[in-house]
Amino acid sequence: MQPRKIAAGNWKMNGTPADIPEAHGIAEAAAAWAGVTVLCPPATLISQLAAEVPGSALKLGGQCCHPAAKGAHTGDVSAPMLASAGATFCIAGHSERRADHGETDADVARQCEAIWAAGMTAIMCIGETLAQREAGETLDVLAAQLDGSLPARATAANTVVAYEPVWAIGTGRVASPEQVAEVHDALRARLRARMKDGAGVSLLYGGSVKAANAAELFALENADGALVGGASLKADDFVPIVKALAAS
Ligand code: 13P
Repeated sequence: MQPRKIAAGNWKMNGTPADIPEAHGIAEAAAAWAGVTVLCPPATLISQLAAEVPGSALKLGGQCCHPAAKGAHTGDVSAPMLASAGATFCIAGHSERRADHGETDADVARQCEAIWAAGMTAIMCIGETLAQREAGETLDVLAAQLDGSLPARATAANTVVAYEPVWAIGTGRVASPEQVAEVHDALRARLRARMKDGAGVSLLYGGSVKAANAAELFALENADGALVGGASLKADDFVPIVKALAAS
């Protein structure tokens, strides 16, 4: 089984209805290739985008979810709520959630279960800090995060894994192709060892991906796409990344 090529955009805490034209531009590019294009806008925009870009090749995703389906959790959003708004993907374990909200590997594993129960695909994120990389701990840290955050019933159909080194997010400092290759090859081996269809799990890289560096990353054997933050906010920045993936 070949991994699906996936170009995913994470708008983080950016976007109001005034930004919806950007999503239309991204949807046009999504329709022009055979891979998967996912946009994770703020939750407030999902239902409007689902209504305005109906039948679109552009898939929508949430950025996080509470592990419970409903209840007294002020300010949180649940996986069934995201799915009912039109999301078919949801990010789990982004480093900004882990850092800002103290989400642990066990929390992320529960979120994956909630995402699957709601019929969505989890985009599960892991990544080392600069201190961990400089201490030579990168592969050990990532292996522990993967094992702790990904429940046993993960499959290539319900899960995408995103490697996002914390030091590369929003810094303009992209990991080198050699660094990405080393990590993605190790993650692929670990996924193959623990899952029957581990060879088919899409492995995305995230962290300062831009049109200028996308092609060299997508040329790597185990880089099946990208999870893009800042460069996904504007169609003019994101569409060339989608095209680079389509051409890879
Ligand atoms: P940037 O592309 O802005 O570095 O963000 C990456 C990211 O965190 C995507 O989830």
